[in-house]
Amino acid sequence: MSADLVEYTLRGRVAVIRFANPPVNSLGLALRRALAAALERMSGDAAIDAAVLVGANGTFSGGADIKEFGAPEAFMGPSLWSLNSMLDESTKPVVAAIEGVALGGGFELALSCHHRVALSSAKVGLPEVKLGLLPGAGGTQRLPRIIGIEGAINVMLGGEPAPVGLFAKSPLFDAIVDADLITAACGIAEKSAAAVAAGQPLRRIRDAKIREPDLEGLLQFARNTAKTAFKDYPAPLAIIDCIQAAATKSFEEGIAEEQRLFKGLFLTDVSAALRHVFFAERAASRVDGLPKNAAVRTVESVAIIGAGTMGTGIAINFLNAGIRTYLLEVGKEALDRGVERIRATYDGQLKKGKLDAGKLAQRMALLVPTLDYAGIASADLVIEAVFEDMAVKEKVFATLDATVKQGAILATNTSTLDVDRIAAVTRRPADVIGLHFFSPANVMRLLEVVRGAKTAPDVLATAMALAKKIRKTAVVSGVCDGFIGNRMINQYSAQALAMIDEGASPQQIDAAIEKFGFAMGPFRMSDLAGNDIGWHIRKRQYAEGKISTPAVIADALCELGRFGQKTGAGWYDYKPGDRTAHPSSVVGKLIDEKRAAAGRPIRKLESREIIERLVFALVNEGARILEEKIAQRASDIDMVYLTGYGFPIWRGGPMRYADSVGIYDVVRRMRAYAALPGADTAFWTPAASLQRLAATGGSITGGAA
Ligand code: 3HC
Ligand code: NAI
Repeated sequence: MSADLVEYTLRGRVAVIRFANPPVNSLGLALRRALAAALERMSGDAAIDAAVLVGANGTFSGGADIKEFGAPEAFMGPSLWSLNSMLDESTKPVVAAIEGVALGGGFELALSCHHRVALSSAKVGLPEVKLGLLPGAGGTQRLPRIIGIEGAINVMLGGEPAPVGLFAKSPLFDAIVDADLITAACGIAEKSAAAVAAGQPLRRIRDAKIREPDLEGLLQFARNTAKTAFKDYPAPLAIIDCIQAAATKSFEEGIAEEQRLFKGLFLTDVSAALRHVFFAERAASRVDGLPKNAAVRTVESVAIIGAGTMGTGIAINFLNAGIRTYLLEVGKEALDRGVERIRATYDGQLKKGKLDAGKLAQRMALLVPTLDYAGIASADLVIEAVFEDMAVKEKVFATLDATVKQGAILATNTSTLDVDRIAAVTRRPADVIGLHFFSPANVMRLLEVVRGAKTAPDVLATAMALAKKIRKTAVVSGVCDGFIGNRMINQYSAQALAMIDEGASPQQIDAAIEKFGFAMGPFRMSDLAGNDIGWHIRKRQYAEGKISTPAVIADALCELGRFGQKTGAGWYDYKPGDRTAHPSSVVGKLIDEKRAAAGRPIRKLESREIIERLVFALVNEGARILEEKIAQRASDIDMVYLTGYGFPIWRGGPMRYADSVGIYDVVRRMRAYAALPGADTAFWTPAASLQRLAATGGSITGGAA
């Protein structure tokens, strides 16, 4: 037994087995070995009658070691199943003492114990579904036996950790205590040992019978929900199959079914993608060159410059987090409009029951509208969200430099402009950073944190910490036109437009990529965001010589004033008050005319070509972004696309998707597109890193493909 993984101490005739594998006591092979040894010792220890299992580090266990998945250790014995069987076979009672969390395999271990006691602050859950898996250590068989079918469906399909109090009315816990967990657990262990000595059998969840009069109805309802709500995910239906087995078959048959389905899910691409996302999410918060506990600046107040679409959305984030927020505008009318927009957002939430009147008042009380820079001089962080115009932004930053206190962080929400140039107008470029929110800024999870050439480490660390506070997924980007997300989406949009020139219709392109899993195709998306935004950016890029072939059809659409939903017409037609996109005969005619004028032959494009050209355009630019070190790692790019651009989560993001296709084939297909008549061969030249990976058989995310 490894002493540092498991501590075995005696409390009277009870062994307290405290297990540790920081930070969350995940049940990797070494810990499983140590636990198995401890259970064996307990079994042969004549000095004890019972045991208490408790996790070190203030938590029970976060479950199976996900880092081990994909390595041989994951399936090496003793497995979780071996530990659970040892508990089943034990003649001495074992009590699980739960604080912090007991999740996945950790909760399943607790379910195999004879008794459970929890601190009232603890949470339990089976989050395997979020990894594209099912609880594979007996959870699907034991949980319905102790909390019933309906509860088990909710826990396993929801995957969210639940406060233990939620189960207070079920026999899941022998006791829920506010303090003295070990004392309570030892008391229960002693009582149970006395009952065993008196000839009573040990209580095992596996022996319980499920009584559910409406089994068929509940399962049917769950299957219908799973088919619509989780249509691209195989795990929920497999979980329901296991629950059905729990209710209709013997425990051993149910376990066999669980094992069979678990192993099948483990090998699916969806599960591999979701496991990638689990680690990608956590990796994104790590900044190269910054220690985890880097110094941060205090942010107790924030000032937003510009109360337009973005400024008001950004302000709501900080108001929600209980932070005093100044809102500065050039004129009273615009300022009033901004305040009104914030209030209207809250009123909408009030009507939907998402907010109560008290909270609304509290949040609005934190808002300080102002027309005067003197009013924001004491702000700890300033976020500029004025027009996307360098001259306007330079003026704002020069004013900020002259008026705001030293030590304040000065941020810009620019989507495309050079953060270093903006920083250079101040005498404190180390305090300047980009905070690129996405619209609607109070809803979208993504925040690109743009690290300027001179941004100070503590400014960056503060931005990352603040992102957590306002519940954003922060991804660090270097400075370039469009940063990570928009720079890539420009390539994607360029392909979408090129395919219109070649013969596809907007609705055909949207339908193909939506079937792939994108929340919205490029044309519906552009209509939602406003076609004029891209037009404005293109005009600047034409002037800067950054685009050689003009987007003729898209420009002509804007010249007609078809900016999208806001003008009631864009790539599609819209009816007042309705966001449904209807194919437009005007657009159809415009496309025909422009194609005829270009004199280019048109052809039919298959869905496969549409999807590959859109997604591989992202991948190629993503690879270049990595080569230029604009993104720190491939998984960061995936997080940008999953949280900001509606890329299907179950595909793991564009870079992980490229790995699942295989980089060799991605490159091969790019070369095929370069060989099409009239193709933009420069566009389809695979990035150097992709060519290298194709040659060596490597993967871009570094994980198993
Ligand atoms: N295995 C390996 N590492 C894990 C882990 C796990 N089960 N759970 C968390 N970690 C790691 C994280 O990767 C992170 O590592 P890092 O510091 O190197 O980035 C570290 O632990 C801390 O994690 P968080 O940042 O998420 O910390 P929080 O305190 O916010 O949350 C938690 C802790 C609630 C335990 C959360 O990490 C979590 O939900 N973990 C996943 C739980 C899970 O999905 N368990 C099921 C596993 S599958 C299973 O058990 C199969 C079985 O049925 C057979
Ligand atoms: P907007 O036009 O809705 O709002 C800009 C606001 O700034 C207006 O209310 C205007 O009166 C005010 N303003 C202009 N000059 C000012 C000054 N000197 N001082 C104070 N206020 C001033 O624009 P929007 O969409 O909110 O964009 C703002 C910034 O956010 C731009 O840099 C844009 O590129 C960026 N952005 C926009 C996104 C979007 O989807 N709209 C997404 C991400 C970033």
